[in-house]
Amino acid sequence: MSEPIINIKRLIPFQVLDSRGRPTVALTLELQDGSTHTARVPSGASTGKHEAIELRDQNNSNSNKYYFGKSVNSAIANIKSFESKLVNKDLTLSQIDNLILENDGANESANAFAKFGANSALAISLCATLACAHVNGTSVARLFSPKNDLVIPMPMVNILSGGAHANRCMDIQDVLVIPNGAKDFPEALSWISAIRETAAQLGKDAGNLTNLVADEGGIAISFKSIAQACEFVVKAIEKVGLVPSEQVSLALDVAATQFFKSDSGANGTYSLENEGRTFNSLQFIDYLGNLVSNLPIISIEDPFAEDDWDAWQIFTAKFEKKLQIVGDDLFTTNSNRLNKGLTENSANSILIKVNQNGLISKTKSVLEIAKNHGFATIVSARSGETEDSWLADLAVGWQAEQIKVGSTHGSERNSKWNRLLQLCATEKVVFANPFK
Ligand code: PGA
Ligand code: ZN
Repeated sequence: MSEPIINIKRLIPFQVLDSRGRPTVALTLELQDGSTHTARVPSGASTGKHEAIELRDQNNSNSNKYYFGKSVNSAIANIKSFESKLVNKDLTLSQIDNLILENDGANESANAFAKFGANSALAISLCATLACAHVNGTSVARLFSPKNDLVIPMPMVNILSGGAHANRCMDIQDVLVIPNGAKDFPEALSWISAIRETAAQLGKDAGNLTNLVADEGGIAISFKSIAQACEFVVKAIEKVGLVPSEQVSLALDVAATQFFKSDSGANGTYSLENEGRTFNSLQFIDYLGNLVSNLPIISIEDPFAEDDWDAWQIFTAKFEKKLQIVGDDLFTTNSNRLNKGLTENSANSILIKVNQNGLISKTKSVLEIAKNHGFATIVSARSGETEDSWLADLAVGWQAEQIKVGSTHGSERNSKWNRLLQLCATEKVVFANPFK
């Protein structure tokens, strides 16, 4: 199928606030037909060092002073100065993305867009995607998935938050649930909502709740060990009347880069401060292996640091048959890093984040490479999100089969879940279950 063609009249970039109250880039793109298309760019906190670069002003100008160096006026200026290269031309999304790449000289490398800003690039690419759906007369989901029933992805949902998202009350970043026994998405979401509510109540009853709403809408509770945190979520699942493993399983986002300290040589240590233990890579492989053997964990994200490739390889060789092993900081939605991982068998799944890459068509290509090599694909939001719901459409349109947007709390999270519910109500859908 040929790509839709759009003709842009003007770009109106501006600064808005994300779910953490920090500035981010928004863009309204106007087409020659007078229609307007607006998107806002998400932002991470536990960002991988190989991600495309997000531009922040960092100066002490008046407009930045109260945003503590985080304003995005330079990214906005970059979009405005690029406008003349895009207006009054018939262009496809791929052509627009290639023009953005050429302009930056970024060439899809890790740490791309150091000059132009991945946030500037993504704002244009996202709005162009929305505009393409408009000229196509479809939703973004249907733009990418024009035929057949839509595939609604399996949600992977945050219940407990730690790490950079919750003042390190837990060493790892997330304990999540996957409703692998649900018959459809609405049922899956109802289970998760009940588990989150129940976990919050259990935390209040036990008196160790530190924060009812962490950055991604999860609950923050201090736990001495990862095992204790997992057992707590298992208890919440059971209290709701659901069966762990059979109906709802656990997933971890270890975000290990955050507590890995590299020494001067090739090695380093993983330091779990709440647990009071440190490990070298081989010891940490055993530690995690023990956890996944004793608890109903079916997925583990970033179990090792972003450049500890050897540990990833050894762990994958041992556990790939029984466990989804997800590279987030490891791959940073970058085709070169993914290709290295495929060659070395470093994981069996990839987290897909559009702002790690910077461009919609290139992100889609990374997802397709992963799928073609049998990797599971999980489209993911960021900890700093917005009210936009295009992520749900991308996950469905790209048939990602899994989606991760944080918890079932906060409108920046629920806008994505609610968009999936809308698609379930208005379209013919099937529910993806990669864990059957
Ligand atoms: P981030 O975290 O958006 O803060 O990077 C999300 C994740 O690690 O999956
Ligand atoms: Zn992650």
